[in-house]
Amino acid sequence: MNILVTGGAGYIGSHTVVELQKAGHMVAIVDDLSNAKANVIDSIQQITGIRPAFFQIDCADKNALRTVFEQHPVDAVIHFAGFKAVGESVKKPLAYYRNNLDSTLTLLEVMEEFGCKKFIFSSSATVYGPNNPYPYKEEMPAIQSSSPYGWTKVMIERILTDYTTAHPDFCAVLLRYFNPIGSHESGLLGDDPNGIPNNLMPYITRVAAGQLEKLTIFGDDYPTPDGTCLRDYLHVVDLAVGHLKALEYAVKHLGVEAVNLGTGQGVSVLELVHAFKQANGIQLPYVIGPRRDGDLPAFWADAEKAKNLLGWEAMHSIEDMCKSAWEFAKKK
Ligand code: UFG
Repeated sequence: MNILVTGGAGYIGSHTVVELQKAGHMVAIVDDLSNAKANVIDSIQQITGIRPAFFQIDCADKNALRTVFEQHPVDAVIHFAGFKAVGESVKKPLAYYRNNLDSTLTLLEVMEEFGCKKFIFSSSATVYGPNNPYPYKEEMPAIQSSSPYGWTKVMIERILTDYTTAHPDFCAVLLRYFNPIGSHESGLLGDDPNGIPNNLMPYITRVAAGQLEKLTIFGDDYPTPDGTCLRDYLHVVDLAVGHLKALEYAVKHLGVEAVNLGTGQGVSVLELVHAFKQANGIQLPYVIGPRRDGDLPAFWADAEKAKNLLGWEAMHSIEDMCKSAWEFAKKK
């Protein structure tokens, strides 16, 4: 199939493009490179032997997007493009609402013009909000979040649900990611945020590389076995394969489905730090600091629906995730 991948030069997007090309699909990437680097396209070509079509445009630029659809047949869209820093979204809510909502609405309008009816959306476990018990199940009320970033995910899920109700011949799969970490085995693709990382694994790898002095663990007084927060870390390559499975599902079905992509297991910050040290045989200086605003003590996925509906489950271990994350960071 011909797949349009927005945000395809980003961390999850680029790994997904690799899996799509490996499975024989033709990919066109739309990315404005506001938080990604152009050489990712070269890396994808190096890994798969195929250079995806690449358009450096903003998804909210309707005319530019039309040009892409005119030049490339598009059977389905996987929509990753969006701002994603939780803390930044609290400080710049308008930028987050404008960017994430505008780009999705524009994309849907252009898809409608060109008769494209398959949509895979990059959603997040954050839509379960602070009050649902874990493990999170898809049928739980996903109607709140704790940041403007998270609210954009809730709102876009709503938009896609309403759009699908109005257009019963449309299919939207809302993929709710837990915490992707790790890198492609080639070490050519990975999580490489600009500036000081917000997320745990890129922070760990920068400390391991000596670029940052030490990791601060945000709180060890949570009601968890070792006092640090529990999250459901999954390998980014598993997550990428999940998109392939969602696409296969969307081709054969109509309507809207929300699906968790996680392992179903909670791992603490301290456990991840020790796993990283052990997997790579290196030291990782850390201190315990205060809690970070907005962090939940624990959550992980109920991963049954992904298994039953999409035939997907995470295959890689925490050790794989830690080794591959370090392989990528070492090459930087
Ligand atoms: N952490 C540290 N020190 C750091 C960075 C993180 O101790 O320097 C801890 C956090 O307190 C948290 C855990 O590591 O307990 C994971 O933090 P991340 O920032 O890596 O991930 P979050 O679970 O906070 O956020 C992720 C995604 C968001 C999404 C959110 C909720 O990055 O996009 O899950 O689903 F909104």
